[in-house]
Amino acid sequence: MIFRAVPVPNCLFSRVRHSFSAGRNTGDFYRNRLCLNVIHGGILDRACFYAMIKGRNVQQNHHLLGGFMNMPKHLSDSTILNNDVRMPWFGLGVWKATEGGEVERAVRTAIELGYKSIDTAAVYGNEAGVGQAIKDSGVAREELFVTTKVWNSNQGYDTTLQAFEESRNKLGLDYIDLYLIHWPVKDKYKETWKALEKLYRDGSVRAIGVSNFQVHHLEDLMQGSEIVPAVNQVEYHPRLSQRPLHDFCRKNRIQLEAWSPLMQGQLLNNPLLIEIGEKHGKNPAQIILRWDLQNEVVTIPKSVTPERIAQNADVFDFELSSEDMERIHALNLDQRVGADPDNFNF
Ligand SMILES: NC(=O)c1ccc[n+]([C@@H]2O[C@H](COP(=O)([O-])OP(=O)(O)OC[C@H]3O[C@@H](n4cnc5c(N)ncnc54)[C@H](OP(=O)(O)O)[C@@H]3O)[C@@H](O)[C@H]2O)c1
Repeated sequence: MIFRAVPVPNCLFSRVRHSFSAGRNTGDFYRNRLCLNVIHGGILDRACFYAMIKGRNVQQNHHLLGGFMNMPKHLSDSTILNNDVRMPWFGLGVWKATEGGEVERAVRTAIELGYKSIDTAAVYGNEAGVGQAIKDSGVAREELFVTTKVWNSNQGYDTTLQAFEESRNKLGLDYIDLYLIHWPVKDKYKETWKALEKLYRDGSVRAIGVSNFQVHHLEDLMQGSEIVPAVNQVEYHPRLSQRPLHDFCRKNRIQLEAWSPLMQGQLLNNPLLIEIGEKHGKNPAQIILRWDLQNEVVTIPKSVTPERIAQNADVFDFELSSEDMERIHALNLDQRVGADPDNFNF
């Protein structure tokens, strides 16, 4: 790393300070005040630096900053949610991991490798296996971060409270770290949210959030509700980078989280990702996951294959330049592998 601590001109400092004054990164920024010249693989590169000097809004250039305030450096590093709870940037997804041996082995392998976060859901049908693997791991409960979700057919106030108890029992845990509304079921999600607010107030969950919410769903939910979702977990990968949604979430301190970050394997032969990977000695999956982190997006790739579970987490020892970040962004086609949150029938 090239480290040159140089005083930052006051005009630049005050502009950046102003832009981040309402944000969670203010403290980090102060600590980095004299380190704006830490230039390492483009965390803060020339384009971004000049953009700031020219007076462009830092928020608009946030992607260029590559999250330099908050760059995760280890698998155990976490983002700070809007209620000050820490959530790991990186976790294991377990959709389609079969209940019993398969999911247990995957979760145990991940935890042995240092993963702290596991993403499951009632509808995945594998919460018991996730819970068993957590118990077997011997790792202290408070070191882990477990997410589960209320399924669509259980939405509503009482039914959500009931579904939560079922999930908690299957997982064998006293509390859940993050409980999400799985999909924005029309005419149901507001009542469901009230149940999540109760669970949060009761201390049964450390944070509550949503999944597959578009901007209009979030606006609707936030109107009249007491708690702003801490997280929005959405389909997110280089073919679906969802910039307007991401900007909205940033402005409202809702942490974006990527599901199907690898586009379920469909992007792994992409020539650009291969080319960028060759520069860093990394594979395309690792390039995508690093791109997530530098975009300040929590990511939860799924694998039941031990070598892949290890490879996927080996993304903390290199950085993508802002030019490569943008080249990857340019792959966006607004293309989904999953359902459209405005048009689903399950
Ligand atoms: N909230 C929602 O509505 C929602 C929807 C979908 C998913 N999710 C969550 O997001 C997680 C991740 O999404 P996802 O499971 O859909 O897809 P994904 O993580 O994009 O891709 C998983 C697929 O890629 C393969 N894979 C993983 N790492 C690989 C590597 N390094 N090289 C080659 N292939 C690799 C896996 O195979 P193997 O397992 O055989 O290794 C699996 O087939 C899910 O598990 C779930 O927790 C949430």
